[in-house]
Amino acid sequence: MKPTQTSNLTLHMVASLDGFISKQDGTVDWMHSQDQYDKGVALTEEDIADYLASIDCYVMGSHTYELALQLGWPYGDKPVVVVSSRSLSSDRASVSFFHGDIVELVEEQLKARYQNIWLVGGAALAKAFLQSNLVDKITLSIMPIILGGGTLFFDFIGKEIPLHLEDVKAYQDGMVELSYAVK
Ligand SMILES: NC(=O)c1ccc[n+]([C@@H]2O[C@H](COP(=O)([O-])OP(=O)(O)OC[C@H]3O[C@@H](n4cnc5c(N)ncnc54)[C@H](OP(=O)(O)O)[C@@H]3O)[C@@H](O)[C@H]2O)c1
Repeated sequence: MKPTQTSNLTLHMVASLDGFISKQDGTVDWMHSQDQYDKGVALTEEDIADYLASIDCYVMGSHTYELALQLGWPYGDKPVVVVSSRSLSSDRASVSFFHGDIVELVEEQLKARYQNIWLVGGAALAKAFLQSNLVDKITLSIMPIILGGGTLFFDFIGKEIPLHLEDVKAYQDGMVELSYAVK
């Protein structure tokens, strides 16, 4: 018998040690670490490609979408759903826009179609998803830096969310990846 496949929504974010996901000036060079941790795991281009290939769909807030357009589209042809109340449009066939109830978006639209759904920010949409209990897993990549200010990842979510630590990996560039399941 074919095993039942469950859909998961993973909230993925890159943050500084002091919990910021963005600098006040918007620059992203801090996300590329020059650190060297010899005991860390080496990441090859092939590993990254395999990892990205496992993602079926990306969801993001409109600010994150607009930033991705400015910085260079990193999502290839994978389906991307942008949550916005504005009438945005895109030339890319892979991009669609959603305005409405995010519970309906996830439970009725995304989970019916995709298995590995990635919420990639930003802070406002992540907060809304956490508050609505829509996040199954959290993957946090901590870079070896203290930014001292900017946009906080967990900005007063207003509720307690117990987690189960599933994995911890340290990489050669000093990045530490924490993977949690939401209980
Ligand atoms: N370090 C990382 O991994 C990472 C990843 C992603 C983003 N970021 C950073 O995060 C920042 C952007 O985050 P952000 O918090 O400003 O914006 P965001 O979460 O990307 O987008 C917020 C927008 O999403 C739309 N939205 C629709 N429904 C919503 C709901 N229920 N709750 C909240 N938003 C909803 C609204 O768009 P409309 O106004 O169009 O209606 C809202 O203004 C950028 O500085 C970016 O660099 C960092």
